Amino acid sequence: MVGPIRVVVTGAAGQIAYSLLHQIAKGDVFGHDQPLILHLLDIPPMMGVLNGVVMELNDCALPLINEMVATDNPEVAFKDVEAAFLVGAMPRKEGMERKDLLAANVKIFKAQGQALDKFAKKTVKVLVVGNPANTNALVCSKYAPSIPKENFSAMTRLDQNRAQAEVAAHLKVPVSCVNGVIIWGNHSSTQFPDVSHAKVILQSGKEASVYESIGDEKWLQTEFIEKIQKRGAEVIKARKLSSAMSAAKAAADHMHDIWHGTSNGRWVSMGVFSDGSYGTPEGVMFSFPVTIQNKEWKIVKGLPISTFAQSKLDITGKELIEERQEALAVCQD
Ligand code: NAI
Repeated sequence: MVGPIRVVVTGAAGQIAYSLLHQIAKGDVFGHDQPLILHLLDIPPMMGVLNGVVMELNDCALPLINEMVATDNPEVAFKDVEAAFLVGAMPRKEGMERKDLLAANVKIFKAQGQALDKFAKKTVKVLVVGNPANTNALVCSKYAPSIPKENFSAMTRLDQNRAQAEVAAHLKVPVSCVNGVIIWGNHSSTQFPDVSHAKVILQSGKEASVYESIGDEKWLQTEFIEKIQKRGAEVIKARKLSSAMSAAKAAADHMHDIWHGTSNGRWVSMGVFSDGSYGTPEGVMFSFPVTIQNKEWKIVKGLPISTFAQSKLDITGKELIEERQEALAVCQD
């Protein structure tokens, strides 16, 4: 049996964490033979709720949990962690502008970057879920200079899962038959869900291009894109709460693939530091298709990009530059 690893989840008393912790603790992310020491961070007013989450995790009687550390102290929470799920953030309140939310949240991620820098393992893999996820990841990395910037990524896997599920429903195949849908850019309403390079195994058993199988460019360039871009808002409207079960599943998928890699030419989408590939702005956390080996990602290069796609990449890239400017201004205050 291998030794335990320390894994931190922030926002541990919140709704995404409530689903995510169970998936981590039963081995879906790091492996079914990997013991865990779970670090759970939330803010002081949430310690009572967090205590309830700890009780429930205990009551799950999960054999992989060696120990749990529930705390409101980032120093304790980030100490020696090898994987970090940064979920905790301030939710958008009524009447709050996007700018105000960004200002409040980047400050959290600045402080957590500084804490990771001081207390986490230098090999720690950091997944940022809390919104605005791409820019929070950028800020977090900036304030953790002793940790390689490649160790930080932002979650767009929920958008990828949503897009693959939508394509599968449209083509009437199980979602496991759809592969290679890409989410480009920001986890926001400017993201570009792109099926141009995706493949599907049709009911006949034949592999085909998703684009050709759907055969409706207008739908793909309008309704489909909007549906994925606005899916989060649709869920809020229906549930009166934001996506949590699906966000937790996506976070588990994302970290699972960092830990175990991608295979058979499969790629996944995640927000990573842009090297300027595909004409995107360098240095922002842009969602690209990546392959992963030995816990290191590589951007998939050389995919042909249509004029339509390029215009979409430009819009979302521009938004990320604006967010970066706003965030860095707030951090300097
Ligand atoms: P929630 O409000 O249920 O839970 C958030 C938790 O974070 C709360 O318990 C809160 O006390 C805690 N928190 C706030 N500040 C903290 C800090 N400084 N340190 C530690 N904990 C802190 O929210 P939920 O639904 O769990 O969502 C969390 C975040 O994930 C939100 O920012 C949401 O917008 C984002 N999200 C991102 C998605 C993505 O695809 N990237 C998808 C869905 C949600």
